[in-house]
Amino acid sequence: RAGLETERLGHRLVCKDELPSTQKEAQHLAEDGAEEGTVVLAEEQTSGRGRLGRQWHSPKGAGIWMSLIIRPDIQINKAPQFTLLTAAAVVKAVKRATGLDCEIKWPNDILYKGKKFVGILTECQAEAADVKAIIIGIGINVNTDIEDFPDELKDIATSLRIEAGKTFDRAEIIQAILKEIESLYKMYMDEGFHFIKLLWESYAISLGKKIYARKTNGDVIYGLAQGIDDEGVLLLRDDDGHIHKIYSADIELSSQ
Ligand code: BTN
Repeated sequence: RAGLETERLGHRLVCKDELPSTQKEAQHLAEDGAEEGTVVLAEEQTSGRGRLGRQWHSPKGAGIWMSLIIRPDIQINKAPQFTLLTAAAVVKAVKRATGLDCEIKWPNDILYKGKKFVGILTECQAEAADVKAIIIGIGINVNTDIEDFPDELKDIATSLRIEAGKTFDRAEIIQAILKEIESLYKMYMDEGFHFIKLLWESYAISLGKKIYARKTNGDVIYGLAQGIDDEGVLLLRDDDGHIHKIYSADIELSSQ
């Protein structure tokens, strides 16, 4: 807490040695009325959750396993914009804290030289169309070694330590992230999504490229990633010129 440079975010910090999932904990706290800016951190998660019901590998002391509660006064259809806002903030913060330039793969993966080291999960609590809370979960492989990853992740995942060859202070990175999220959040509330979208697009690797989008129902669509719309939905143009709106999918860059 000593180095916090934020006005609100992180002023209530819940730090635990072990939790099943910081995301679950933050969901409960938010339901019980926890204030905006509450942050839950754990040294280790025993059942860390990823997107689309996947697991998130969260070994002890190796990474940042964090969930943040915010309470913007917005309608529920705007909530996905916060996934993009968070991704842009994390890229800026990682650059500031470590000097490394990373990239975003839609919607929420952050990669360094093509390998993922950050995952973001945003979940929303709402009453009718009004957002009551957004729970932003951020998982960052900071000081993880390659042997800490399960075999199936070794070729596709990385950590800051693996890439930079040195150990990083997790507290510094957390402070940088909270500061960047706070400043983009202010900008969002004052000026809307436009600038956040431009910033996000400047970090995105897939835009303007041919990609495969594997949707949750198994369908695969191939086309040109044209951009995102004002809600953060990916727009994919297939070879017949049809524009597909992709709400949720895994994407893969095509070699062509
Ligand atoms: C993904 O890429 O699938 C998203 C991964 C999100 C992981 C973070 S770690 C902190 C928070 N607690 C969880 O259980 N999940 C998120």
